[in-house]
Amino acid sequence: MSKLKIAVQKSGRLNEDSISLLKNCGIHIDNGKDQLKASASNYPLEVLYLRNGDIPQYVEDGVADLAIVGENLLVESQNDIEIVRKLGFSKCKLSLAVPKDVQYDGVQFFDGKKIATSYPNTLNQYLKKNNVNAEIHLIKGSVEIAPNIGLAEGICDLVSSGSTLFKNGLKETDTILTSEACLVKSKKLNAEQNALLDTLLFRLDAVQKGKKSKYVLMNVPNDKLKVVIKLLPGMRSPTVLPLAEEGWSSVHSVIEEGKFWEVIDQLKAAGAEGLLIVPIEKMVL
Ligand code: PRP
Repeated sequence: MSKLKIAVQKSGRLNEDSISLLKNCGIHIDNGKDQLKASASNYPLEVLYLRNGDIPQYVEDGVADLAIVGENLLVESQNDIEIVRKLGFSKCKLSLAVPKDVQYDGVQFFDGKKIATSYPNTLNQYLKKNNVNAEIHLIKGSVEIAPNIGLAEGICDLVSSGSTLFKNGLKETDTILTSEACLVKSKKLNAEQNALLDTLLFRLDAVQKGKKSKYVLMNVPNDKLKVVIKLLPGMRSPTVLPLAEEGWSSVHSVIEEGKFWEVIDQLKAAGAEGLLIVPIEKMVL
């Protein structure tokens, strides 16, 4: 029987969320400490814990069939692999930054200057597009220290909360790309593995949709039901059940996270009371 091998970060910020996503898909992974390979006990999946920077090449070569990696790494590594789903976690930017007291009037500032980065390909493309002739100084880590020790006039690195820039007296100037975790696949998957991937994607989509929605329950006086129901998007239509107290109903529905607070305010104004908001674990449409 066919199996899928999925590569995830051995350590780093994607590791935990990647494993918890697989677990939320109902896949049990026996995760021993310092284990570099683990099999799922209830799904034909093997997890390979690999060094982040090596993952795209392993997927291109077909050593791993799937992987969870940051978009930033995919752009930088330029491997021939396919993004199957964007996963919505580990969101960050790849940005240029300079010391905070430097006067910065645009990317031409970097003409004839040095920029330290671990992302030479992505930076090079950006500089070319903007006709900037800067020297790229490749460093593998602690990039933010470069201007402080006289290694470069600016940096190009990942920014998430911005606290590393702040702590090193730097300010962000240009966003080169925005990134999030992605599920990628090798182009070497056979038909059976692609069919298996479809079953995994079915679970993944159910988890992702559930995360984006909330289940809402509320009490509504019967004479306000029509107005309240109109406000509720729901999946097909809201559920309406009579309450023990005459003249009242309990209304259940699903609301998307993005529209959530706006709809809740409208529901209250329309006469809904005792609203309960419950997370949804999985959602199959
Ligand atoms: C990344 C990046 C920055 C930092 C930015 O490093 O290289 O240093 O996160 O995050 P912030 O904006 O929230 O401060 P990471 O800790 O992932 O490790 P790395 O140095 O191995 O890239």
